[in-house]
Amino acid sequence: MAKIIFQPSGTEIEAAEGTKVLQNAIKNKVEITYGCASCRCGTCGVEVLAGELSAMAENERTLLENMRLPTDGRYRLSCQARMMDTDVSVDLGFQIRYSPERGIIE
Ligand code: FES
Repeated sequence: MAKIIFQPSGTEIEAAEGTKVLQNAIKNKVEITYGCASCRCGTCGVEVLAGELSAMAENERTLLENMRLPTDGRYRLSCQARMMDTDVSVDLGFQIRYSPERGIIE
């Protein structure tokens, strides 16, 4: 088990290796925006502040590119990114700061 810390609330939950970030958020009633849960809409994006998630598959990489986001692991789709055996911190504030038309609004 590893820990996910959801920012900006600071909510901490335990998550098993191999489980998806979105799945853990929903299960633990963390308020998170999402839509399709299958790598099509991009609404479930999170910013990874610390830690490491599973390797990015091609479909996630393509959608992030279409969203004009970097594919270096800083931004992930929570419906695709799986936990590894390490703690992670993700920022859900990104969901408010992102606009499909303008990209990330700083
Ligand atoms: S919920 Fe649609 S891409 Fe993740």
